[in-house]
Amino acid sequence: MTYKLENFFAKDLPDATGAYSGFPEYNFVGGHNSEINIPIKKLVKSAESVLLKEGKNLALYGHNSGPQGNLALREFLVSYLDEHTGMKIDSGNILLTSGSLQALDLVNKLLLKKDDTVLVEEATYGGAISRIESLGVKHLGIKLDNEGICPQHLIQILEMLKAKDISPKYLYTIPTVQNPTATVMPEKRRREILEIAKKYNFLIFEDDCYADLTWDRKRPKSIYSLCDEDRVIYCGSFSKSIAPALRVGYIIASWKAISKILAYKNDGGSGAIEQMILADFCKNNYKKHADELVIELERKCDLMMQCLDMEFGSIAEFTKPKGGIFIWITFPASINTNRLFKVASEKGVALNPGSEWVSKSEEGINKIRLCFANPKDETIKDGISHLAQICYDEFGIPITGANVKR
Ligand SMILES: Cc1ncc(COP(=O)(O)O)c(C=O)c1O
Repeated sequence: MTYKLENFFAKDLPDATGAYSGFPEYNFVGGHNSEINIPIKKLVKSAESVLLKEGKNLALYGHNSGPQGNLALREFLVSYLDEHTGMKIDSGNILLTSGSLQALDLVNKLLLKKDDTVLVEEATYGGAISRIESLGVKHLGIKLDNEGICPQHLIQILEMLKAKDISPKYLYTIPTVQNPTATVMPEKRRREILEIAKKYNFLIFEDDCYADLTWDRKRPKSIYSLCDEDRVIYCGSFSKSIAPALRVGYIIASWKAISKILAYKNDGGSGAIEQMILADFCKNNYKKHADELVIELERKCDLMMQCLDMEFGSIAEFTKPKGGIFIWITFPASINTNRLFKVASEKGVALNPGSEWVSKSEEGINKIRLCFANPKDETIKDGISHLAQICYDEFGIPITGANVKR
């Protein structure tokens, strides 16, 4: 029998990934951040100072802070989240993770098993959907309006599940700058959702990684902070507010949950250097940095919206995001965005097709998500113009662009 390495691979693995060959020319996908807002000089200063002071701790697993991660960074989060989103926690409630993607994996491992059911927002983070599906867990989408999850629809779905004797494990929500719709759930709605969670007895998994990116820089109270019992598990990240390549995220939960997760987060701890640098940087600079970043992000968002209006006119429907890094766009039903995604990628324009960002993939078939945070102004202008031309060549619309017939 001829030897083939792949014959030894475990069954049911996902398809292999292609080798990295650089980013496309017009890259509007993913959660990349604004290059000019990376606080390079301050990070260098923090790195030097903290390594000189505490570098010796790198000799230890857990760098003298234990398996929950850098204590100074956890203490920063305790005071920042209390001040800005009303959370009363202590450092023991925080587990630092390798990005919030690891937080999603760890929380899913804590709560889910094959054939469980969870509730998600009808349009939600693709990385959360793929994780839930890879565990063989079913997800049901709850309708969204411009204030987030619709309580009436949530109740309707819960009653339907109750009739079948199914109790969902959790409701996964991104209440502040929802991904991809970029709405912000007001406090009243948060309280309503919480009451429903209590009545029907399920947990809330609150993902707040965009909460520092609202244009008005106001963070509503987190659902976690409004809950008087340990029903909410919260996760956050420094990816969107500072830099995704740092890979620092966190879980906030009761010690009952954190201590259980620690039993299987047996990876020797998440990267120490980035946590040490962040701890030093955040103490004096985080708030000001986020204020400046948001100004630049809103400017780019406005630019992309203008370009979309100019190149696509009324066929691209969207509402101005309340913050964040992306615009969620609905096209007429005749535009299949899986097809648009394919032809656009071949021509160097990368976008997220809506079908990967919704619970029922057919409902996203005429939608796309575009990220505006990373591309330069010229890339946004040229890229949207190219995309409109590609769309016209494939689907016959938009007929005009910049007031000129194509
Ligand atoms: C809602 C949401 N959660 C989690 C993540 C993962 O972020 P990271 O692992 O970089 O913290 C993302 C990234 O785009 C996201 O949009």
